[in-house]
Amino acid sequence: MPQPTIMMCKPVHFEVTYKINPWMTPDEWAENSLALALESSDGWDRLVETLGSLGANLLFVDPQPGLPDLVFTANAAIVMDGKALVARFRHPERQGEEPFYLAFLEALKAQGLLTQVEMTPESVCLEGAGDCVWDTQRNLFWMGYGQRSDQAAARAVGDFFGLETIPLELIDPRYYHMDTALVPLSGGEIVYYPGAFSAAGQAVVAERAGRHNLIAAPEEDAARLSVNLVNLDRDIVLATATDRFQSMIEERGYRLHKLPISSFSKSGGSAFCLTLRLDRTSKTG
Ligand code: ARG
Repeated sequence: MPQPTIMMCKPVHFEVTYKINPWMTPDEWAENSLALALESSDGWDRLVETLGSLGANLLFVDPQPGLPDLVFTANAAIVMDGKALVARFRHPERQGEEPFYLAFLEALKAQGLLTQVEMTPESVCLEGAGDCVWDTQRNLFWMGYGQRSDQAAARAVGDFFGLETIPLELIDPRYYHMDTALVPLSGGEIVYYPGAFSAAGQAVVAERAGRHNLIAAPEEDAARLSVNLVNLDRDIVLATATDRFQSMIEERGYRLHKLPISSFSKSGGSAFCLTLRLDRTSKTG
């Protein structure tokens, strides 16, 4: 496996001060903010340590006061074949992150690590890789729409990268980003939570993936954001898994690493959300 390069952001200013998804309750966070901040910081350190030990090269964007969700770098951009399409967020609470992600990716371009960096066209919302998950085996993007990103964004992604982009409607507000409900694994399996998708979407996933490749996460695991996992080769990093979910994954030959990062679910995020792969390449690119 070529060395994965992953963008992250230390949770120095991470907290829950506004509500833009059903997971977020600022009052509850405020009651226990010191302990939760500490827990987040420790959990994130463990994530860094684990990804490092699995061979990843980690790059860090500077934390910014007043932008608590900057830690969720999966939303920064879609990066593929050295090209980056920077996010346009739906909610004003996160729009302030855009210039920081843009500047960071522009700096990588100046260093020769990327060749092209563009903002998503102003006419559409598109929340980065959080809503546009790369499927290495099938050489395509699975794109979630209907909660944060616009359906029309599929066209922008397809045009920019010249790659197939399959839009799937997200119908459950708890699974507001694609990466909370679907993640392809290195061996061609797709871990997903069917209830997050419309019937039409579920049919498309089954058809393109092939039923034997589908790993349907139990409700209980989806509801802990465990589908939001990081997969590097045969290793899988996530917050938690029921015995059932764990054996479904291990049966397919993957090793599970459970990390104490569940405080991030109070903002609606978990392992995948805290990372952005910068080294993805397509077969056509
Ligand atoms: N509080 C953040 C939001 O609602 C969480 C983002 C999680 N990121 C993700 N890729 N699912 O936007």
